[in-house]
Formats: sequence, structure tokens, C-alpha cells
Amino acid sequence: MKPTRRQFLIGSGVAALATQINLPAMAAAAKTGLKDAYKDRFLIGAAINTSITKGDLPDITEIIKRDFSSVTPENTMKWESVRTPEGGWKWEGADQFVKFAETHKLHAVGHTLAWHSQIPDSVFKNEKGEYIKPAELSKKMEEHITTIVGRYKGKLPAWDAVNEAVGDDNQMRKSHYFNILGEEFIDKTFHLAHEVDPNAHLMYNDYNNEQEGKRNATVDMVKRLQKRGVPINGLGIQAHIAVGGPSIEEIEKSIVAFHNLGLRVHFTELDVDVLPSVWNLPVAEISTRFEYKPERDPFKDGLSKEMNDQLSKRYEDLFKLFIKHKDKIDRVTLWGISDDATWLNDFPIRGRTSYPLLFDRKHQPKDAYYKVLAL
Ligand code: GLA
Repeated sequence: MKPTRRQFLIGSGVAALATQINLPAMAAAAKTGLKDAYKDRFLIGAAINTSITKGDLPDITEIIKRDFSSVTPENTMKWESVRTPEGGWKWEGADQFVKFAETHKLHAVGHTLAWHSQIPDSVFKNEKGEYIKPAELSKKMEEHITTIVGRYKGKLPAWDAVNEAVGDDNQMRKSHYFNILGEEFIDKTFHLAHEVDPNAHLMYNDYNNEQEGKRNATVDMVKRLQKRGVPINGLGIQAHIAVGGPSIEEIEKSIVAFHNLGLRVHFTELDVDVLPSVWNLPVAEISTRFEYKPERDPFKDGLSKEMNDQLSKRYEDLFKLFIKHKDKIDRVTLWGISDDATWLNDFPIRGRTSYPLLFDRKHQPKDAYYKVLAL
């Protein structure tokens, strides 16, 4: 791909950008980075993949050491990653993640103990395709949660215990977990994890909960959990958001609402999409919704200056909000480090060129990075 002028500027790094951006902030970046700039505010985290934890990307490891204080495994602790189809265990990726965090003295988050996705149907159904009995699922959950939380006890100070239990209709999601055990699957997950590692900070984690409908449904759900004595400590706002929304005001309402429940607030999976959304297309277009079309990939050859400015401004506004509420927020984690490795290049449409993170495809800090650093 022929680089555009913009990409060249970004790719050529610190010196080329010096005339456009805050020089003192850039000098500081070279020495310290985000994690030190934010050390009296909250942790700065990143989701990391196996190429990083295996040591295949030494330049990214250097970025992590300079800029990040917390890590989350992008995939390696999910059910399908740690379990074999026969119900055995495969620990290589998860162990490597924990070792990476230990080696680099990073706060590490376990992700995730109960989630409807990236888990085979065979966990929930027998050979005839019928749901297994509640007691059988409870037993499987017990084995799963006590084993994995126990293995890393004392090494993972926090867990995204339950992921995405509220559906897009703001009712409890009709997942296999829920269909078999009802809301009890959430209680069980938190109780089991807490019993094994009473010091672990246990969170409920979801997307779109910075918007009114899911925010309210989440508040109601957490109140029910608390009434039943479920040991929940934190609320994860994933924040897979777009350059145009949701508004800062909406996000702020969620920070306050979750804090008012007595929970610590975490931004767990932040990324900012600049590509056209296909989620809101009319239902009639459902079959073509996720097809690749050139007009859905407008920055294939580089991000326009206008969009790059909007993205930087969006990051600046977001971090200003986070700083305003630093007394309520423990951590802001980005879902990845550099744009070449973001899931948004392939979701919800395969093969697009996405720009949601703070480092570009050449692993250089973007304008948005410097904006965030300078706050
Ligand atoms: C959810 C999950 C993450 C990740 C993202 C997208 O938000 O919590 O583990 O799978 O989707 O990749």
C-alpha cells in the first residue's frame, strides 16, 4: 500500500510531529509515557495477545513497559482457550500471560469466568442437543472457576467475573447460562471466585452500558445482586465506542450511576471506531449488513486529517472526563495497543482498515496519544 503523506508523518515518529504537537509532552513521552503521567489518577491498561506474551513483538513490549501499568489477556483465558473439547485444560497461553505480567510488574486482570461467547455449546448441551440439568452446569462452573481462579490466586488482583449478562433488549440475556440457571449463574460465579481468592477484585463487565437503556438495566441487576449478598466490587464499562458517540454526558452518567452503587468503575476495553457503522442500517438490509463494500472502508489508504483530528479530540475529551472522575475510576484499559492488531479490522466486517487505538500500524504514537499524555 502506498503511504499517504499523513501516514508518512505519523510513521516517521516524534521528530516529524514536533512542529504540530505539544513539544514538552513529547519529550516527556520519550522518558516516561502514559503510565507515569497517570500514576496518581488510575491504571492505564491494554489487552494483549499471544504474539506479545510469547515475546514475538519486542517493540510492543517496550511500549507496554513505558506506557501501560495493567494488562488483560485478549483471548487466552476465555473458556475455549483454556479448555479442551473433552473438558481438559490447556494452560500455555494463560500461563504465558501471567508470566509476562509478573516479569514486567504489571497489574493483571483475569478475563473472563462466565461469558456466553467463545465457549462451545457442548458445555451446556448433551449429545441430543438438549440442555443439561442445572446441577450439572453448576458442577462444571464450579470446576472451571475454582481451578482457574485458584491457579492464579494472588497473581491476578482483578477478574472480569461475568461478561455481558444483559442483552441488547436490556433484559437479562437469554444465554445458555441464563436459560439453564437463571440469574443464579451470576451469583454463583462471583461467590465461587470470591471463595477461592477473597482478595480478588471482582467485576461485572459489559458493552453499551454507557447508554441509558443498558445503564438502567445494569443498575437494577446490580441492586438485585447486592441484595442477595453477591460479592461484586467493580463495574466494567467496555467502551467499544465510536468517534461520534455516545456523548461524554452519557458516559459520565454511567460513571456516576455505577459509583453510586458502591462499585469501583473500570473502563475495560476502550477503543474508538472511526469507520462507518453498519449496526443501524434498516433491518431489511440485514443480509448485506456485514458485507465488505469499499464505501464501508473509507480510510484504506490512510486516515484523513479531518478524521484524525476528530479521533484525537475524542480521546482528549474522554480522558478529560476520566480525570474528572479519577476518584471513582480504578483503571482505563484499551482493547489493544496498535491499529494493525485491533479486532475492529475484522469486526463486524472483515478486512477493513481501522484506527481505534493510540498507536498506529507502525507502532508509533498517534496524535491522540500525545493529547492524552498532555492532560
Ligand atoms: C467483548 C469481550 C472481549 C472481546 C471483545 C471484542 O467485549 O469482552 O473479550 O472479545 O468483545 O474482541
